[in-house]
Amino acid sequence: MTESYDSASNGPRPENRFDDLLPNARQNTGVSTALDKNVPVAIDVQGIEKKYGEIEAVKGISFQVERGEVFAFLGPNGAGKTTTIRMLCTLARPTGGSAKVDGFDVMQQPTAVRRRIGLVFQEPTLDQQLTAEENLQFHAVLYRVPRDQVEERIESVLRLVDLQDRRKDLVSTFSGGMARRLEIARGMLHTPAVLFLDEPTIGLDPQTRALMWKDVLRLRNEEGVTIFLTTHYMDEAEYADRIAIIDHGTIVALDTPDHLKKMVGSDTVELTTSNNTLASSNLETQGFSVKVGDENVVVFADNGESQVTSIIEAAGVPIQNVRVHRPNLDDVFLHFTGRQIREGPAERSFPMHFRNFGHRR
Ligand SMILES: Nc1ncnc2c1ncn2[C@@H]1O[C@H](COP(=O)(O)OP(=O)(O)OP(=O)(O)O)[C@@H](O)[C@H]1O
Ligand SMILES: [Mg+2]
Repeated sequence: MTESYDSASNGPRPENRFDDLLPNARQNTGVSTALDKNVPVAIDVQGIEKKYGEIEAVKGISFQVERGEVFAFLGPNGAGKTTTIRMLCTLARPTGGSAKVDGFDVMQQPTAVRRRIGLVFQEPTLDQQLTAEENLQFHAVLYRVPRDQVEERIESVLRLVDLQDRRKDLVSTFSGGMARRLEIARGMLHTPAVLFLDEPTIGLDPQTRALMWKDVLRLRNEEGVTIFLTTHYMDEAEYADRIAIIDHGTIVALDTPDHLKKMVGSDTVELTTSNNTLASSNLETQGFSVKVGDENVVVFADNGESQVTSIIEAAGVPIQNVRVHRPNLDDVFLHFTGRQIREGPAERSFPMHFRNFGHRR
C-alpha cells in the first residue's frame, strides 16, 4: 500500500444520535490500558514509540483493544494518532516497543498483519475516474479476495454502507460523505479482523457524520470486526466503547466515555439569583455542595437535572436563570491536558465547573 497520507481539517459536530444501535455495544468497565487476561485481545501495544529525528511523535504508549471493540483515539492535530495507526498497519517502523495485531507482531510478521487489517486513510484514496464497483474490484485483486467470493463481498459491503444503488456510478459523482463511506466499504472488502479508520468523519456535514457512525456500529455489530478509529471530535468519540485521549504522543487517559466523564466531576447547576450570597448559604445549610462565582451560584450535584427543583427550593431566593451542565468529553480533554482540544500550546485552564454552562448535552 502506498497511498498518500496526513493533514487534517475540522468539520461540524454531528447532531444525530443512534441509540438504536447502541444496545448491542459491549459494556466495558476497564479502567487501565490493559484488558483482563481472559478477554480476547485484537490489538496489543506495549511501549511503542516513533521518533522522527528530534521529534518524538509517539512516546512509548501501551494499550490493548478487545476483539469486537470500537476503540477511539481522540486527540488534537499532531498528537500522534496517524503515526500510531501507521505503525500498527506496518507502514511505519516503530523506533521502540512492540505491537501485535490479531496476534501477529507488526515488526516480525508484517505480511500476516496486513492480511488481517483494513485501513481507511486520513486522506481520500479512491480512484475518482472509476465506478464504485471498479474501485472495489481493484481492491479485491490487490488483496487477493478469492474470485468466487468477490461478487458476494462487494454486495455485502455496499449494503453495509447503504451504497448499493450507486454501484455503477463514477466516484467523481459522489458526495464527500458517500466517497468516505465507499472507502469504509473498501476497507471491509477482504473481511479484515481489525479495521483502522483514520479520521473517518473529517470534513463531513453533521448528517453524514451521523450516517458514518451508523455504518461503523453496524460493521461491528454485523461483521464482528474490531474497529480502531481516530478523531478530533469529542462528541462522536462518545459512541466508542473505550476512548484513549492522546496528547503530545502520550496517552493521558483511557477508559469508557462514561468513566472518563465521571472522573472529571459531577454535573453542575448554575443559578443566577437576586442574592447569590444568601442563596449559597441556604443551599449549604441544606447540605448542597456550593461555590459562589462572580455572577452566579454553582451547585455540584449528581444527576443535576433531576435535582433542579429541590435546588431552587433550597436556594430560597428569587431565581433569574438556571443552567445544568453535564461533563462531556470537552471537559474530559481539558481536565486531563489543561487545554481545549483545538487550542495550540498548553495554557492554564479554568476549573471545569466554571466553563461552558450554556453548553448542555
Ligand atoms: N514522516 C514524518 N516525518 C517527520 N515528522 C513527522 C512525520 N509524520 C508525522 N510527524 C510528526 O509527528 C507528530 C505526530 O503526527 P501525526 O500525523 O501522528 O499526528 P495526528 O495526531 O495524526 O495529527 P492530525 O490530527 O493532524 O492528523 C507531528 O509532530 C508530526 O509533525
Ligand atoms: Mg492524523
